[in-house]
Amino acid sequence: MKTLKVDISKVLGFVPKEDIYNYQNEIDRHHRSILGKTGKGNDFLGWVDLPGETDESLLLSILDSAQKIREKNIDVFIVIGIGGSYLGARAVIESLKHNFSFLLNKKNNPEVIYAGQNIGEDYLYDLLEVLDEKEYALTVISKSGTTTEPALAFRILKSHLENKYGKAGAKERIIAITDESKGALKQLAREEGYTTYVVPDDVGGRYSVLTPVGLLPIAVAGFDIRALLAGAKKMQELNSLGSSLDENPMALYAATRNALLKSGKVIEILVNYQPSLFYLTEWWKQLFGESEGKEGKGIFPAGVGFTTDLHSMGQYIQEGYRMIFETVLAVGKAKKKLVVPMDDANLDGLNYLAGKRIHDVNKMAELGTALAHIDGGVPNIGIIVPEVNEETIGELIYFFEMSCALSGYTLGVNPFDQPGVEAYKKNMFALLGKPGFESETEAIRKKI
Ligand code: PA5
Repeated sequence: MKTLKVDISKVLGFVPKEDIYNYQNEIDRHHRSILGKTGKGNDFLGWVDLPGETDESLLLSILDSAQKIREKNIDVFIVIGIGGSYLGARAVIESLKHNFSFLLNKKNNPEVIYAGQNIGEDYLYDLLEVLDEKEYALTVISKSGTTTEPALAFRILKSHLENKYGKAGAKERIIAITDESKGALKQLAREEGYTTYVVPDDVGGRYSVLTPVGLLPIAVAGFDIRALLAGAKKMQELNSLGSSLDENPMALYAATRNALLKSGKVIEILVNYQPSLFYLTEWWKQLFGESEGKEGKGIFPAGVGFTTDLHSMGQYIQEGYRMIFETVLAVGKAKKKLVVPMDDANLDGLNYLAGKRIHDVNKMAELGTALAHIDGGVPNIGIIVPEVNEETIGELIYFFEMSCALSGYTLGVNPFDQPGVEAYKKNMFALLGKPGFESETEAIRKKI
């Protein structure tokens, strides 16, 4: 069974191998508590079993709902959600879709776009302007059912949809994904009679991409959710209790990043060399940032896309403060083939590359950069996948989720809560005069 690999050879010049392997016992302990569901935040461990245990009837229902939406010949499918309620779907869809799908004349799949992940008035206005001209449907996703950003966007888009297709037509074009019983969205969905899917109680937002939260939009976008789950299952199977760091890449990655942190590397940059992986990096940043950044602890997760960002962030990474390590998503082969052509005049001096695949040039940029950054004091973890497809993205999802849980426990935090996210909400509600926040409003007015 071929699966993704973790390569720590480019770390060993910075931390001795034993500093990494010394984490084996601690990782074993955390592994037991994750699989046995006994540690901190253990009521949010439902994601651990999702790949192997997702109900066939749920999958069939998601595929059926996706098909019904696709049969409406929509140009656009809107995913309304924020944080874990949209990033996983976006990461998968953008990794897999045509890089210029929005410009293709002959489309097999609707263009998936996003709303409710910001409060930009111009963003929403522009979206409405475009939707006047397009056939569309949407899903609104909020586990709590009370998050302001998606609720605002949904209020506006629901009204647009109802004006365009009538109330009954709109109802057929809306799928709600939320809590089984509580929250404003649940109540609205019940009253309006929308098709609804449940975000399981025991799965937090950032670990929810393999629930309907991710699976429904990914299926509407035209990608194979069974292959995605199959990839995740391969990782789940590797994650057996008592597996050594050499057998379990998730344990190895978790141990290595903790050893690097201990050596003073407080920033991890996830590096990709494929523009399509930009949102996978965004999802990863949320997963690790929200899971580990608490109690004054945590590795700061940053992301770059190379070679693009070698011409912006490359300077800092090479020579700035030496508190960084990189984790490189190394993709074995491109899906399409493009070769550098011969040019008789050779005015650009590129004939030495003639006949080479663009991907091979990219791989040499990858290797050259890793070696330069190592010389500059930046350790480099490699995560190697053979190519980008549903199965390998599924592997990466489970790989990162499990690594994050193991790593967070090793840091000594609860990787499944996000108490810090409430602070801005409290202030925003106080400033906006939300009913129930009267004393906060009074207190905050004194500060400004
Ligand atoms: O990971 C998380 O829990 C968060 O990022 C949530 O997904 C985000 O805040 C959105 O929450 P909700 O789905 O309740 O609207």
